Amino acid sequence: MAASVADLERILAEAETAIREVGSAQALAELRASYLGKKGSVSTLLRGLGQLSAEERAEAGKATNEAKKRIEAWVAERKASLALDARAKDLAEHRLDVTLPGFAPPRGHLHPTTQIEREMCTFFTEMGYGIEDGPEVESDWNNFGGLNFPEDHPARDLQDTFFVTGGNVLRTHTSNVQIRAMTGRQPPFRFVSPGRVYRNDLDGTHYPMFHQIEAVCVDERTTFADLKGTLFAFARHLFGAEAEIRFRAHFFPFTEPSAEIDIGWEGRWLEWGGCGMIHPRVLLNCGIDPERYQGFAFGMGIDRTAMIRWDIPNIQLLFDGDVRTMEQF
Ligand code: DAH
Repeated sequence: MAASVADLERILAEAETAIREVGSAQALAELRASYLGKKGSVSTLLRGLGQLSAEERAEAGKATNEAKKRIEAWVAERKASLALDARAKDLAEHRLDVTLPGFAPPRGHLHPTTQIEREMCTFFTEMGYGIEDGPEVESDWNNFGGLNFPEDHPARDLQDTFFVTGGNVLRTHTSNVQIRAMTGRQPPFRFVSPGRVYRNDLDGTHYPMFHQIEAVCVDERTTFADLKGTLFAFARHLFGAEAEIRFRAHFFPFTEPSAEIDIGWEGRWLEWGGCGMIHPRVLLNCGIDPERYQGFAFGMGIDRTAMIRWDIPNIQLLFDGDVRTMEQF
């Protein structure tokens, strides 16, 4: 028995150092098993107690159980300190430097056509105009007939117009909204209508799809002077206080008199849009009495306005979606 107790002392002394120095949870578990596992040295000692006298056995049993408890305590302590070490190491390795500059995702912006369109609409809504919408697939009546286009007008020709099944067309201008918004409504009213239009046309300044904005103002005494004043204010809002416009007599079936509007831009006159006093027959077509009411209308290209504003040489640049181009606006 004396030998057993001495063994126990030796085992304990060795265990304490070994446990304190063990470097990983895995090694710690193995170490614990080497003492307390079924074949562990303490367990083996405990099994040897059978050969001792009852008195010796009680004493040795107590000492062995005590030894087990101490080993368990060291193991638990080491386990906790290993966990702390692991956490400290993990924190040190995955240190988060909150002072590093952040990653800024690239930020987009509105398409130049959209920018100008919004500016245009804001100008008019601030003057009390409403905004009207219309479809891009339109009836022949709303796009042509109601606007006083004769049956044989060349604009109905395949050259200019995309025809859709069912007698419809892709609207060739936003003037279709005149018919839609005026029919069933009595003046006074004023509204603008921006949107996409389509024509069978393609070169540097024409594209099969482009954008127009239409403006309409009808009351009992709305005159060409109101039209002129509105267009001057509009041009100056878009192009600055120095902006100049001029009117050139022209023909549109839906206005009388009619004019084309040129805008003075960097020493040149550029064609900007069309305008006129709404033709009495168009008012009649919409159920409005032309003896009592009169009004003006005008329409211009939105993309064209963007091209003038930013000196964009080719309309295609606006639509081919090249980010390097768009970044410049
Ligand atoms: N609809 C014409 C076009 O597409 C533009 C236009 C001219 C609109 C005169 C109008 C207007 O409202 O009065 O070229």
